Amino acid sequence: MLDLKNVSMSFFENNSEFKIIDDISFSVKDGEFICILGPSGCGKTILLYLLAGFLKQTKGKILFLDKEIIAPSPERMMVFQNYVLFPWRTVSENISFALENSNLSKKEKEKTVNKYISLVGLDYFKEWNIHKLSGGMQQRVSIARALVVDPKLLLMDEPLSALDNQYRKHLREEIEKIWLKTKKTVIFVTHSINEALYLADRIYLLSPRPAKIKKIYNLKHKRPRKLNSLEIIKLREDIEKEMKEDFIKTKESDFVSNDMENKILNVKL
Ligand SMILES: Nc1ncnc2c1ncn2[C@@H]1O[C@H](COP(=O)(O)OP(=O)(O)O)[C@@H](O)[C@H]1O
Ligand SMILES: [Mg+2]
Repeated sequence: MLDLKNVSMSFFENNSEFKIIDDISFSVKDGEFICILGPSGCGKTILLYLLAGFLKQTKGKILFLDKEIIAPSPERMMVFQNYVLFPWRTVSENISFALENSNLSKKEKEKTVNKYISLVGLDYFKEWNIHKLSGGMQQRVSIARALVVDPKLLLMDEPLSALDNQYRKHLREEIEKIWLKTKKTVIFVTHSINEALYLADRIYLLSPRPAKIKKIYNLKHKRPRKLNSLEIIKLREDIEKEMKEDFIKTKESDFVSNDMENKILNVKL
């Protein structure tokens, strides 16, 4: 349902090119749970923006259901890292806002909103104002708001990273359950190896910026997964090794460029 073909993305500033994404190709089938795993700043959010249609790639093609992505669409909904909600409105109001442009009657809208509030387990808090809810509950509202328009593709940008550890594990399980119930296709971006190992049918491990696909992991393990099973531990070790190598390389190149900068500054002085 989703095909990326040799996608690259650069920003241009003062005639210099900042390459963020470098020749990424992959395909996603209907109903798959895909994790994009990569270090901070490698270009994960920008990649999701391309899929959402907020930005346009500088090279390559992105086909969604055989059509090029040219603009945002309710078929491809995004859940952001920091829950972007209206703090002084209720849970229901925030979710029904996404249905503003739909043709449903008032009654149907209410029914649909209630269905998704139940799906994310917030029935009791339906009429609560957002600012009174915990971060985790707010993120559930964001998920319901994205799902209420019945998108074909759900794009999730590190939805758990702003939460505390305990709640993160809990919501990770909830996201899996929601996925199993709704059968949506999910692209889930994270820098957490454990989240990817727990959730993904397939992991695309990205290199530091510019993001390239460094390695692909297909996970056929039974769900819900036990992260302390031998197979998963082995996978984790392999991913950690790959990421550590990159981390060391990045540090070295940072050092080199700082060093160069200092030299240039010294010459100028
Ligand atoms: N509008 C922009 N212009 C120039 N560079 C940008 C812009 N937006 C993001 N970047 C850079 O692109 C890189 C990737 O950003 P991002 O996709 O947010 O990374 P992450 O993997 O942490 O989500 C970062 O180095 C960031 O500074
Ligand atoms: Mg990001």
